[in-house]
Amino acid sequence: MQKEKTLQFWDDFYEKEEQTKEWIVQPSQHILNMIEEHLPSSSDVADSLHILEIGCGNSQFSLILWEYLNNKIECNEIDLESVHVTATDVSSVCIDSNLQRDSERMKKFGQHSFHYKILNVLQENQSCQHKFHLVLDKGCLDTFLFRSGKNEETSILHTLLDNVHSWLKDDGKYIIFSPRQKIKALRDYNGFASVEKVKIACTGDLDGKSSDEETIYIHICTKNKLYQIGDVPFRSNMNNVPDFCSSCKISFHEFRKGEAMSGKRETYWFRTWINHT
Ligand SMILES: C[S@@+](CC[C@H](N)C(=O)[O-])C[C@H]1O[C@@H](n2cnc3c(N)ncnc32)[C@H](O)[C@@H]1O
Repeated sequence: MQKEKTLQFWDDFYEKEEQTKEWIVQPSQHILNMIEEHLPSSSDVADSLHILEIGCGNSQFSLILWEYLNNKIECNEIDLESVHVTATDVSSVCIDSNLQRDSERMKKFGQHSFHYKILNVLQENQSCQHKFHLVLDKGCLDTFLFRSGKNEETSILHTLLDNVHSWLKDDGKYIIFSPRQKIKALRDYNGFASVEKVKIACTGDLDGKSSDEETIYIHICTKNKLYQIGDVPFRSNMNNVPDFCSSCKISFHEFRKGEAMSGKRETYWFRTWINHT
């Protein structure tokens, strides 16, 4: 579990960091368009579209996304009734200062549909169960990938992914923005039916610093609704999934190495042998 001093670290960080800080990537038009492309179709959204951001920090990523989607709704450019966005973080310091900073802007669309809330991704939360079409993560899961103890890391990722899984609606998507090309736990987690990856070159965007060109990856994980909390979480712990394709004999490991970037090949890697011929 996350140590008390790590949680304190983030509170201290946000005490000092008064300026809005945007890690990894800015909410540019291109990134907003990409998120829009992954929204469920209006027929799958009965009332309102619900989006959750985990580990929002003091970035305005979610707020800008909420404004972008509401502007599109007003111009009839997307077929949705309304959109609810909840941006969350474990640090009460950053949530309090976000609320102070953005309270006027949050009223803009005349509805209480944008919220900042304290949420620890490593704790179960009944009120979030099965509620969200999209869960966004820009740098939150990344913060758990620097641990020295592999067992500790695996256990934390298991908890985080099971929580995200339980907060997603069926067919919901977990979208992660990361500088990492490969996140093994995502590819191995049985709670996702598919993991698509998109490579983005962003100039001068990374962490707000001016840079020639940086590459980031967007990992788009679609919920596997057959997975249940309590099932074996990671494929690497399973014994009963065939390691070789019965027709061409390629090993699952080889197959997975061929994971394609979206747009470059027609299919991308699936946890099972779906789409493999
Ligand atoms: C690298 S920052 C990213 C902030 C923001 N998403 C951005 O892109 O600018 C990671 C964030 O994860 C938050 N965090 C760390 N542990 C967390 C936990 N257990 N639950 C929720 N958020 C957590 C930190 O407070 C911090 O704001």
